[in-house]
Parts: sequence; structure tokens; C-alpha cells
Amino acid sequence: MRRKLAAGNWKMNGSIPGLDMISELKLKHPECPCDVLLCPPTPLLTHALQNSAGSPIFIGAQDCHSEAKGAFTGDHSAAMIAEIGATHVIVGHSERREAYGETDAQVAAKARAAHEADLTAIVCIGESLEQREAGEALDVIKTQLAGSVPDGSTAASLVVAYEPIWAIGTGKIPTMEQIAEVHALIRTELGARFGEDAADIRLLYGGSVKPANATDIFALDNVDGALVGGASLSAEDFSPIIEALAAS
Ligand code: 13P
Repeated sequence: MRRKLAAGNWKMNGSIPGLDMISELKLKHPECPCDVLLCPPTPLLTHALQNSAGSPIFIGAQDCHSEAKGAFTGDHSAAMIAEIGATHVIVGHSERREAYGETDAQVAAKARAAHEADLTAIVCIGESLEQREAGEALDVIKTQLAGSVPDGSTAASLVVAYEPIWAIGTGKIPTMEQIAEVHALIRTELGARFGEDAADIRLLYGGSVKPANATDIFALDNVDGALVGGASLSAEDFSPIIEALAAS
């Protein structure tokens, strides 16, 4: 059985007072049949860990460097994230692929570094609108998955997030058939590469997940949760998404 995961990616949003939403989530979901993860910006991680203490809410980072240490001004290593008590790291988000030119190989190296630090890597993949309209979405997904997921990945060390770029922050989502088709493909590809163990790897959908569409998305086969951007910034929006996942 795959344990469901509601993950929030705050991107470059949030503040110390904004972390009060974690206390609200703690009160609303003292026990939850699914995992809840919040990934605030790096300077807020320690505060977020203090806020989440004593609760089952996991805290993760949004990126890491592929090297363990060195002259990389402005970066942080996976070991540093693990050392403060965070448990997950997002790698290969399309915003980083686009803004910083991150390649599949670099994303795989970051995921490998995360595994070495005992962090769970949430590897993001997803096609652009142009690729979707050209009928290339499935090929793009296959290529990104093969190149971004490192060898030796396991259900404990890897979560894959399918985030179509055109659905991020736009309010548009793919059809349920399109989401199901991509998630089935990801499951098959992981199975071909990792064998039976792939059945336990969690697959998240991300891109304009809101309380209003969460139930339909979570009803799909091979959707084990969501990677939520804007709607993860407040308990008011994130809590009903957690509830929808718990009920799915
Ligand atoms: P939105 O939920 O704001 O569309 O963002 C999705 C996302 O990019 C999560 O990583």
C-alpha cells in the first residue's frame, strides 16, 4: 500500500508569521491517514521545523546542490537539509529547469545527493504547453523520467511529481484522462526499470490543485497525492486538500 502524500511547495513565498498555518494544520489534522509535507523557502526551514515539532507534518526543502560541500555561494547541500531535521527535498521543479537551465542529468545528481543524505527526493517532471499540443507529452515525460531519476531509487528515497508546466499557477488542469494516462506511463516506466519495488513509489500530480478539484484528481489510479503550490500557503486552502486526500 502506498501512503498518500499531500505536499506543499511554497516557492519564494511565506514568512515567519505565515508559518502559523502549520499550527493550524496541527490542530485540524492531529492524526491523518496520509502524509503531509511542507516545503517553505530555505531560510524558514528551521522555524518550520520548530512549528511542526510534535506533529506528523514533515518539512522539506525546495532544492539542493548535487555536491556535499564546496565553493558554491548561495547553495546548500542535501546533508545540510538533513542535518536540521528536514526529510524531503524537491528537485527538478520546472521553475528551476527553466530559470536556471537545470538538465535531467543535474536533477538526477541532486536526487542522488538527496538519497546519500537519507532525504526523500521529490523529482518533478512535466511537459510544456507546446509539447502537449504537439502530441509529445508522453515522450517528454519518458525522457525526463529516465534522465532525472537516479539508479538505486526506492519507494523510500523517491517520489515522482508530474507537473505539466502549463498547469502551474494558471488555474488550468489537464483532463482527468490526461493525468491518468501520464501517471500510468510513469508507473510502467518505473516498473520496467526498478521491478516490483516500483509499485510502492508514490506519484504526485501538481499544477493548480485546489480544494475544488482535489477529490476528482485523487480518485485517479496511480495518483498518490499532490504537490501543491499556491493552495498550500494557507490552512484554509491546504486543509480541505488534505481532507480530500485522506478520504480518497
Ligand atoms: P500551483 O499549485 O500554484 O499551480 O503550483 C504547482 C507547483 O508548481 C507545485 O510545485
